[in-house]
Amino acid sequence: MRPAGALLALCGLVLSTTGGPAQDSCSQDLNAGVKPGFPKTIQTNDTGVRQAARHSAERFNNCTNDLFLFKEARVLRALVQIVKGLKYMLELEIRRTTCKKTRHSDLDDCDFQTNHTLKWTLSCYSEVWVIPWLQKVEVPVLYCH
Ligand SMILES: *[C@@H]1O[C@H](CO)[C@@H](O)[C@H](O)[C@H]1NC(C)=O
Ligand SMILES: *[C@@H]1O[C@H](CO)[C@@H](O)[C@H](O)[C@H]1NC(C)=O
Ligand SMILES: *[C@@H]1O[C@H](CO)[C@@H](O)[C@H](O)[C@H]1NC(C)=O
Repeated sequence: MRPAGALLALCGLVLSTTGGPAQDSCSQDLNAGVKPGFPKTIQTNDTGVRQAARHSAERFNNCTNDLFLFKEARVLRALVQIVKGLKYMLELEIRRTTCKKTRHSDLDDCDFQTNHTLKWTLSCYSEVWVIPWLQKVEVPVLYCH
């Protein structure tokens, strides 16, 4: 499973190019033309935070080609900022599940790996931008290591 490391790094690079115009499905321009509010710390078990953590895991799965799906395991720190909607900034851990990617499982039904060779936890930083009135969720930033 080691070769996946290089792919994760590549994904991080692609995801970090948020400065320029929108390039591909894995990077979007945040386009924050409005004056943002200050980021505020919120509880890690807040419903919005949990949804943002799930979107981060889904984005991770979309941008990597591991055999298995990863799922959010723990949110260590969460901030939220008002920027044309809400922008969540999360420090979280995502962990490999037993669900094969090809089966398109619902992450709710996926248990974490217990097999020692397959167990894998990554520490991530993500920014998740939620615009409720457009029913839009984007993950412009996702770094995992
Ligand atoms: C979050 O956790 C705190 C205690 O740490 C608890 O008081 C609160 O009810 C929890 N909120 C939710 C939405 O689960
Ligand atoms: C991941 O991809 C699926 C299907 O291609 C899509 O429905 C979903 O919105 C994507 N999730 C994220 C967070 O990009
Ligand atoms: C753990 O996974 C490895 C690699 O897929 C496999 O060879 C091994 O049999 C598994 N061990 C157990 C106890 O399931």
